[in-house]
Amino acid sequence: MIATFPPLQRMLAAMPAHLHADAARRYARHEPVLYQRLASLYGERADFDAWFGDLMEAVGRLHAARPPALLALDAERAERPDWFAGQRMLGYSAYAQRFGGTLRGVAARIPHLRELGVTYLHLLPFLRARAGESDGGFAVASFDEVEPALGSNADLEDLTAQLRENGISLCSDMVLNHVADDHPWALAAVAGAPGMLDYFHTYPNRKTPQRYERTLGQVFPQAAPGNFSYVAALGRWVWTTFYPYQWDLNYANPAVFGAIAEALLGLANRGVEVFRLDSTAFLWKREGSNCMNQPEAHSLLQAIRAIVAIAAPGVLLKAEAIVPTPLLPAYFGSAAAPECHIAYHSSLMAAAWGALAEQDTELLRRVIAATPPLPPHASWLSYVRCHDDIGWNVLRGEAGGDGADATARLARISNFFAGADGGYPAGAPFQTSGAHAAHGSNGMAASLAGLERADNEPARQQALRRLLLLHGLALCFGALPVLYMGDELGMLNDYAFLARPERAIDSRWLQRPDFDDARLAQRHDGASLAGRVHAGLRRMIAVRQERPELAAGAPRALLDTWQAALLALARGPRFLFLGNFSGAEVRYQLAEGRWTDCLGGDARCGRITLQPWAMLWLEHSA
Ligand code: GLC
Repeated sequence: MIATFPPLQRMLAAMPAHLHADAARRYARHEPVLYQRLASLYGERADFDAWFGDLMEAVGRLHAARPPALLALDAERAERPDWFAGQRMLGYSAYAQRFGGTLRGVAARIPHLRELGVTYLHLLPFLRARAGESDGGFAVASFDEVEPALGSNADLEDLTAQLRENGISLCSDMVLNHVADDHPWALAAVAGAPGMLDYFHTYPNRKTPQRYERTLGQVFPQAAPGNFSYVAALGRWVWTTFYPYQWDLNYANPAVFGAIAEALLGLANRGVEVFRLDSTAFLWKREGSNCMNQPEAHSLLQAIRAIVAIAAPGVLLKAEAIVPTPLLPAYFGSAAAPECHIAYHSSLMAAAWGALAEQDTELLRRVIAATPPLPPHASWLSYVRCHDDIGWNVLRGEAGGDGADATARLARISNFFAGADGGYPAGAPFQTSGAHAAHGSNGMAASLAGLERADNEPARQQALRRLLLLHGLALCFGALPVLYMGDELGMLNDYAFLARPERAIDSRWLQRPDFDDARLAQRHDGASLAGRVHAGLRRMIAVRQERPELAAGAPRALLDTWQAALLALARGPRFLFLGNFSGAEVRYQLAEGRWTDCLGGDARCGRITLQPWAMLWLEHSA
């Protein structure tokens, strides 16, 4: 008979003795949730316990491979579990190719990031991508290999080390919902390798897919309609939530979970400190549902969190769950079973743009009021723009409040950003079927805020105010604010994608320009637009860095302003953010006492006036 060892022993046997005590302690703490969650998903399989033992052995092996510098970082972070929630944290998100050409080119941009105050860099997918179109790298062909056009695994390790020396944590996407159709798993399935078809959701005909489709939504209703694609090489229908070449993984198969967990730990060992868990909401399929936010998806995430807590405890998980506000907090998990450390607040982002369009902060106030306090050691992620569209669907609940027609309301907002009726934005609708429907809007922040169309100084000034107003809210909200590449210089839309037919259907490419070195060179020139945006942002970032009440978890309160266009957000008893989301002046009565304008330095008191789209950061002193 073959002796079987308990999972803990198998894990420890895979690592050197000096790591045992700490690893065993972490195992004792996290194994109950890990085991329970995995047993709830896979426990009915006869080989479950053996599989769990194999998994723990792999976890032990990957922990043993963790370089000393990262073990030291793990220890340091264990002392300061809130390290990412402070007011000095600032993120930046970019495509490696657009920002620096290669990973080495990205390293050469570190001085620029440092000048801005960046402490966290999210590089969009940089692993080997599908040959041909790859959804900007979100169709991953290898989890263990850097995209050759961007460099090598050694370049990645050099980059993470250099970033770390400069106080910047690298965040990498972990695309865990799907792989590319030329990923070895997909190729093996096509080749008929035993067990590989079971890595995916495939069907011999349209019958089952059609049943699912009854309740499924569509992410790209125009560019990639439906959720299933016929793959001739397989002679089967494959579940493809996004593009047909992105095959959804089947997490009902424990082998998929194990392979993804190992891939994640492998990347962590190369120095990735934060994982953006892409499309987290879609991981589990259930007939009769929209196959989003299923309890099993949360179990999977809690299991991944437990594995990370055991084997790479300094690493953070970030949920990219673009879901309505009430469904968002679940992605933090609970105190007993934590899930992600950070979650995108996409409703906040979308509602801020909505407030500009409506010149009314009602949507924004609803979203803020519905945002619960953060659990310990967690943070929202706030942002103005990212590489994706501004998705309006997350706001359906808020937009339909008080019996309003949510679709019509969101369609008006979407049309506004498409520049309808000669408005200031230069944006494009995304996957929207007509003037009466809303899906998403695309465009660089500066273009949406009016800078692209502004042809005179007053118009430029107003566009700048709108832009800084949105950044100001993201910086004051109580979150990890992440700037999107080029926004710090007011970069505009890039229309080059229209010339490539395979991209023309996806207007998200509008906001994926090459980094503009000419604008970068102007950043200290106060007469240039790039310089004005950069200076405005730098000023706010510098003030934020000195104000602990702006940290992610510090209290926040919405104050009544009695004016639809004016948002008043108090952070603690002494700090007040005021933002006028309209093109008309608004007045506001300050509470008794002395107030100082933190951005401008002047004293304020009594009844004050905010110019169109103006913002104030005020400090109260008795
Ligand atoms: C995420 C990414 C998006 C991509 C999708 C599919 O939503 O942000 O760019 O298209 O996942 O991977």
